[in-house]
Amino acid sequence: MNTRAPAVEARQLTKTYPGDVTALDGMDITVAPGIVFGLLGPNGAGKSTTVKILTTLARPDSGTATVAGHDVLRDPRRVRRAIGVVAQQSGADPVATGRENLQLQGRLYGLSGAALNRRVDELLERFTLADAARRPVKGYSGGMRRRLDVALGLVHRPEVLFLDEPTTGLDPEARTAMWEEIGRLAGEEGLTILLTTHYLEEADRLAERIAIVDRGRIVVEGTPDALKGELRGDAVHMELGEPVGEAGRTRLTDALTALPAVHEALCEGRRISVRVDDGAAAVPALLAALDRAGASVASATVARPSLDDVYLRHAGRRYAEVQAGPEAVLAGGVR
Ligand SMILES: Nc1ncnc2c1ncn2[C@@H]1O[C@H](COP(=O)(O)OP(=O)(O)OP(=O)(O)O)[C@@H](O)[C@H]1O
Ligand SMILES: [Mg+2]
Repeated sequence: MNTRAPAVEARQLTKTYPGDVTALDGMDITVAPGIVFGLLGPNGAGKSTTVKILTTLARPDSGTATVAGHDVLRDPRRVRRAIGVVAQQSGADPVATGRENLQLQGRLYGLSGAALNRRVDELLERFTLADAARRPVKGYSGGMRRRLDVALGLVHRPEVLFLDEPTTGLDPEARTAMWEEIGRLAGEEGLTILLTTHYLEEADRLAERIAIVDRGRIVVEGTPDALKGELRGDAVHMELGEPVGEAGRTRLTDALTALPAVHEALCEGRRISVRVDDGAAAVPALLAALDRAGASVASATVARPSLDDVYLRHAGRRYAEVQAGPEAVLAGGVR
């Protein structure tokens, strides 16, 4: 049990942007020191706004927050010294080399001379950028640029590192490499990481605790296993032979929810997902019910509930549904 003070504590943060856009609507977060905490939510949920407030780049309309024990409104300078920030948009200067970017960042934090050079070499090595160190950043791949962003956030050895969507836009290989790097960072003495993501898999894999954000507030928080464990039973995902229209969807979900074993049924396009106590035992009855309703099933898989199911339960809609783009649908897909 960790008895040290929280690394991040936010109470009832609110923020409205011009045009009456409510970005935060009573955001509460507590992050214990030394853990990776994942803020998971769809586009526009309020993740970046939360990070901006916690990193002193924006002011809340109301509410309070401390980071590394310092109040973000009363003591922004102390907060800034204690944190590293990797913003959603890269902060590196594209015209300068990787090494120059790191050196400049180090100087901003008061490093100089041999100590600065040592730190820069260490980070270049660690983020496998040593070979590219003398090339301008504009020639870097997306993965290299993101690794440099993280290195920039670490120059002054912060206590708390904020990573705003560290892997968005990366190809799968670069994403996996970044996950490994974040995993290694998390093992470091005392470093607390608050990362935001809209990838369910990323949160599941990296974060010891996850808070799901929806419309500017936390809808549920806990360890990934506890959140999934809350949902009793199994998820059965079925793929229909042909897509069905609106009327067909209602007919099929009605046919399924009429079965005593079925707690919940959801149909989207060709996909039907149901929640049952015992997936394997329920499949024959599910297939028979769909057959009676005139639908052919191409495949059926039984899975433990995923974070997608957790989101569905707490936000009242499927995660993939509120995401834009094919990438997001993949991220919310069935495992
Ligand atoms: N500077 C701004 N001016 C006006 N509206 C803003 C501004 N920044 C954010 N918003 C709005 O506030 C809401 C929350 O945005 P925020 O960037 O915090 O979401 P997010 O969870 O980080 O989303 P994403 O996954 O797309 O990065 C959105 O509706 C967004 O359009
Ligand atoms: Mg964002």
